[in-house]
Amino acid sequence: MGVEVSTAGITKSFGAQTIWREVSLTLPPGEVSVLLGPSGTGKSVFLKSLIGLLRPECGSIHVDGTDIMQCSTSQLYEIRKLFGVLFQDGALFGSMSLFDNVAFPLREHTRKNESEIRRIVFEKLELTGLLGAEDKLPGEISGGMRKRAGLARALVLDPEIILVDEPDSGLDPVRTTYISQLFLDINAQIDATFLIVTHNINLARTVPDNIGMLFRRELVMFGPREVLLTSDEPVVKQFLNGRMVGPIGMSEEKDEAQIEREQALVDAGHHAGGVDEIEGIIPQMQATPGMPFRQAVTRRQNRVREMLHTLTPAARTAVEASFGVGHAVSDLADR
Ligand SMILES: Nc1ncnc2c1ncn2[C@@H]1O[C@H](COP(=O)(O)OP(=O)(O)OP(=O)(O)O)[C@@H](O)[C@H]1O
Ligand SMILES: [Mg+2]
Repeated sequence: MGVEVSTAGITKSFGAQTIWREVSLTLPPGEVSVLLGPSGTGKSVFLKSLIGLLRPECGSIHVDGTDIMQCSTSQLYEIRKLFGVLFQDGALFGSMSLFDNVAFPLREHTRKNESEIRRIVFEKLELTGLLGAEDKLPGEISGGMRKRAGLARALVLDPEIILVDEPDSGLDPVRTTYISQLFLDINAQIDATFLIVTHNINLARTVPDNIGMLFRRELVMFGPREVLLTSDEPVVKQFLNGRMVGPIGMSEEKDEAQIEREQALVDAGHHAGGVDEIEGIIPQMQATPGMPFRQAVTRRQNRVREMLHTLTPAARTAVEASFGVGHAVSDLADR
């Protein structure tokens, strides 16, 4: 099972600018979580903090029981090996072939011989649909392929925690769905803990077990998908529907008066953009039939059952409707 990552009261500033404060959340081990938030709210900074590349001023970050804000440099080095990270820009080495890029962590962190490295690299290239492109340089392939190469590289050390920063940027909607399916299939196969940062509403609605949202320098919410997908919190609703009307503005955050003026325009018939609000919630995607059963499904059901009494009626109904769905499909796959 993937390991638990939890933050308690972490605050991060650059100079006088506070990026977010008092962020506390627990990524349940082996589950897939998504972090949402408008541009510039510090999602990438948050991911970098989880692997100790950036250091919050206060609070604690426990990874598999070790507080990475207190531990020694050598402990941090060991902890980092648990992570597979896909950075926002893919972060490939421009002068290296895809093969060498994907092989890099193996050469850097393991003593595996070249034939073993070759086997692993080709396995991950196949998984991410890049077989045949191994000799290409990053500059010679499309943005979507670079994303997938970054993902292949993030997977070579069999990580227990996979952090992915905007896997969908630069991907068409179909490829985004394929990569979404890939995340759930990888999760079914290795039971790693996932945190995916995305702006993609469709991915957010269909992939994760849990969703969190950063806004106005705070973690507005973090919880089971049903809680956010049925939420009446204005910023969560606006984001999940891609609307202009609501607290999120183009650059600055809006004040109350502006929000009301815009709402009045919409009430008078102006199109606020975004997608139609969906009645109820879309069922979660599942691992491809034939894959191992996603163990996170059962663990999460038990976990969420314990908190049912704390949820809103809408969230509770959605959770109850989801119970049993994952089992039914895994039974089908076993036949
Ligand atoms: N190393 C750094 N030094 C100073 N400021 C930084 C640094 N890294 C990020 N910032 C600032 O922190 C804020 C949050 O940046 P971050 O990249 O985390 O946003 P984001 O939520 O990932 O946005 P996007 O959705 O556009 O990727 C920005 O104002 C950015 O300028
Ligand atoms: Mg970012």
